[in-house]
Amino acid sequence: MSSDTPTSAPNAPLVSLKNVNKHFGDLHVLRDINLEVARGEVVVVIGPSGSGKSTLCRAINRLETIDDGQILIDGKELPAEGRALAKLRADVGMVFQSFNLFAHKTILENVSLGPVKVKKAKPAEAKEQAMALLKRVGVDNQAGKLPAQLSGGQQQRVAIARALAMKPKVMLFDEPTSALDPEMINEVLDTMVELAREGMTMIVVTHEMGFARKAADRVIFMADGQIVEQAAPEEFFTNPKSERAKDFLGKILAH
Ligand SMILES: Nc1ncnc2c1ncn2[C@@H]1O[C@H](COP(=O)(O)OP(=O)(O)O)[C@@H](O)[C@H]1O
Ligand SMILES: [Mg+2]
Repeated sequence: MSSDTPTSAPNAPLVSLKNVNKHFGDLHVLRDINLEVARGEVVVVIGPSGSGKSTLCRAINRLETIDDGQILIDGKELPAEGRALAKLRADVGMVFQSFNLFAHKTILENVSLGPVKVKKAKPAEAKEQAMALLKRVGVDNQAGKLPAQLSGGQQQRVAIARALAMKPKVMLFDEPTSALDPEMINEVLDTMVELAREGMTMIVVTHEMGFARKAADRVIFMADGQIVEQAAPEEFFTNPKSERAKDFLGKILAH
């Protein structure tokens, strides 16, 4: 998957958050977040429920505004709204826990519509590209069906193909497997591992330690809106430093 030509220096961070703060009313959900993600880096974000992981993803994609600080994608700040936002937002692919496919469009349309609408791709070319992406995630034989006719794991792979169709520079995944039946989790994780190996820059909120160990360059542990600790996966899982991380890992390992 070739991304667009870099607009910043090749060694500049692809995603950069500087002193980002966000409140919901009195609740301080993102506290002075500083985070740089390098081109091709895979970062796994873990932490207790309510710690701000989803808000972090949504802020990076401008689905949420921030109170102060700065978020840059490939050296550029996302515009507040309008067509420029839609265009730049295409640089950031997002896959949610719920698959969020268009229920009344076919699988092929789900993947081909974005490039036609936002990137002004020719419909025939968008379809051809969509078929190639569906093949890549292993669901090309489902192209003519509606989302409800597919399993959860297949739908989530379509959601990944749909995000990739926009040729994003970075992919955000917010607990992409937590709504899936256990036997479908691996088919989605395998697709993500492959994407990571191909060099995609990824920020992945997940508690799947197998994925983190296989694919992540770095694990970030969040609690109460803060980045509490970060390390290489093996280091983090075997030797967490903070009490919060030790306590959290104890809980997820007990499952
Ligand atoms: N739209 C919203 N309005 C008010 N509070 C919210 C909203 N979205 C999230 N929150 C609160 O912000 C905190 C962080 O939420 P979230 O980012 O979803 O955490 P996580 O993904 O780590 O579970 C939680 O306390 C949550 O209840
Ligand atoms: Mg969440």
